[in-house]
Amino acid sequence: MRGRVFVSCPLPGSAIERLAREHDVEIGIERVGVRGDDFIRAAETFDAIVSCVTDPIDVALLDRARRLRVVANFAVGYDNIDVPACASRGVTVTNTPGVLTEATADLAFGLLLDAARRIAEGDRLVRRGAFDGWRPSFLVGVPVHGGTLGVIGLGRIGQAMARRARGFGMRVLYAGRTRAAPAVEKALHAVHVPLDDLFEQADFVSLHCPLTPDTRGLVSSARLSRMKPGAVLVNTARGACVDEAALAEALVTGPLGAAGLDVFEDEPRVNARLLALENVVLTPHTGSADRAAREAMATTAVESVLAVLAGNSPLYPVAG
Ligand code: GLV
Repeated sequence: MRGRVFVSCPLPGSAIERLAREHDVEIGIERVGVRGDDFIRAAETFDAIVSCVTDPIDVALLDRARRLRVVANFAVGYDNIDVPACASRGVTVTNTPGVLTEATADLAFGLLLDAARRIAEGDRLVRRGAFDGWRPSFLVGVPVHGGTLGVIGLGRIGQAMARRARGFGMRVLYAGRTRAAPAVEKALHAVHVPLDDLFEQADFVSLHCPLTPDTRGLVSSARLSRMKPGAVLVNTARGACVDEAALAEALVTGPLGAAGLDVFEDEPRVNARLLALENVVLTPHTGSADRAAREAMATTAVESVLAVLAGNSPLYPVAG
């Protein structure tokens, strides 16, 4: 039987066409998604939602969307979804792991290189006509090759980041909720350390953990104060893992040297103090934004909806 599927916004690739061959699809408006009238008016008629990280899937929505059987998040993170509330109503939640791993690690490593070697700062300087000739001490940055990378969360993306770091001759430390398998540690030459030690020993700290009550505010002013002078912080995970006010302070008064941020505490708003700093590189939550990754995310989300509506188990259910 054909179901009704609300897709939060237009998605790249042809996955939606495939979905529309089997089900009736309504496509919402970008950045409005489930908050739009087209969803709200007909909430009780939808069997499935393909949601984005900007869609709050909460109790209020679930109370109205009584037919709902699956929420397929077009993302690997799912902190926008009240997963226990979904589970208690028998609504399956899925995400899109795997297909965005390399894309996200590429951006994270790009931010690391950019923050360390002051690439965006140099670009701004050249564009405003302030490049007045080569000088030995001009825009000198932090050495990347041979440095120590501290990975917080050695899951898929954390491991991909560690692989890139190995290519740059870096030493890899990691901390996180779960210890990686010995074979993973061995392949990446990754050494497990307590979280606070990681902040003390790493030249670069990169976040690859989900946002949970345990990781909210994990990069606190206390932890920032333990970092090495000139160290670099990279965040492609979730903005709320970092205390942004404390980060801005540490970038001005030390010890932090620079930061590369793809995510923010209150997106799309960006802390005004951060915006004014030269030693922070900012990207607009584009970690997974390469064409192949985004098309594969759409395919994965659509396959989850098709599976659940056909009475099958989806490939990537999220535990409630
Ligand atoms: C993006 O933020 C994602 O979680 O995939």
